[in-house]
Amino acid sequence: MTEVGRQKVVVVTGSSSGIGYATSLLLARKGFYTYASARNINKSANLQSIVDAERLPLKLIQLDVTDDRSVKDAVEKIVSEKGKIDVLVNNAGYGLFGAFEDLSMDEIKAQFETNFFGVIRVTQHVLPIMRSKDNGGGGGGGGVIVNVSSVNGHVAFPVISAYVATKFALEGLSESIAYELEPFGIKVILIEPGAIGSSFMKGSVMSNRALDPKSPYSEFVRKVRFKISSDHENATQPEEVAKTIVQAILSEKPEFRYVVGSDAVTLMEARKNMPYSDFQKMIQNIIQL
Ligand SMILES: NC(=O)c1ccc[n+]([C@@H]2O[C@H](COP(=O)([O-])OP(=O)(O)OC[C@H]3O[C@@H](n4cnc5c(N)ncnc54)[C@H](OP(=O)(O)O)[C@@H]3O)[C@@H](O)[C@H]2O)c1
Repeated sequence: MTEVGRQKVVVVTGSSSGIGYATSLLLARKGFYTYASARNINKSANLQSIVDAERLPLKLIQLDVTDDRSVKDAVEKIVSEKGKIDVLVNNAGYGLFGAFEDLSMDEIKAQFETNFFGVIRVTQHVLPIMRSKDNGGGGGGGGVIVNVSSVNGHVAFPVISAYVATKFALEGLSESIAYELEPFGIKVILIEPGAIGSSFMKGSVMSNRALDPKSPYSEFVRKVRFKISSDHENATQPEEVAKTIVQAILSEKPEFRYVVGSDAVTLMEARKNMPYSDFQKMIQNIIQL
């Protein structure tokens, strides 16, 4: 446990399972004072029992990224207790499944409300704290913002168009704000995992109309969802993503992007190097369309 690590204050969104859970635990084990936030902290009994047993510097805090009041209250509580926030990990998110035509506006808006506007809401509350002179303890402000994007921030799959759109949007937002925040000593980092064996599939939402057998897309959606689900069964573990996030946070000069998982690396390379028409065929083959 490093002395520097002990002094750093981190907040992670979506800590009740998967990547957020693993990241919160690893950060606390590395000595960061970790606020593991969740929209329902009653789900975090297991995390609390590990924290108690290992006497980790981790505190559970309620934070729903879609709720202004909840975000404001959580940030104010952290600042009143610790006086600063050094690192924010924007991790909360879920997947919306269904063919585009079957998605309702409400379902698409809810998807953006969590995966994209949720990041914006939390980050805008945290930035004034990070910019303040007292932040970071060195008298100059500063901090690190880690945005958990996805391979789907660059590579689109069918049947999750709204999810893909939130992650493409997050990539653009992150690139843009990185320029604005650099002069304040605030680093922005993107994490781009491939399929991860978290609760992601269990927590995903199936569009109402996609469930209707009369939908002209129902068979297509069933097939693609099955393929994506099977990819998640023997997937990279959330702990691998957590390790990458912690390594990036601890790095003096972090990369801007970290791709996690061999599937993601292969897809990203192919997307970069292949003509798009060949790439499309490759995706169609993978999804077995
Ligand atoms: N699993 C993958 O294959 C994969 C791949 C690439 C990127 N990602 C990204 O990784 C991130 C974490 O996902 P995961 O794989 O760890 O899935 P997960 O196990 O389902 O975790 C998602 C977390 O987000 C939380 N969450 C959802 N809506 C929220 C809200 N409104 N406010 C606060 N928390 C909320 C969930 O809380 P509840 O328990 O209350 O639902 C849960 O803690 C997501 O942004 C996801 O897009 C995942």
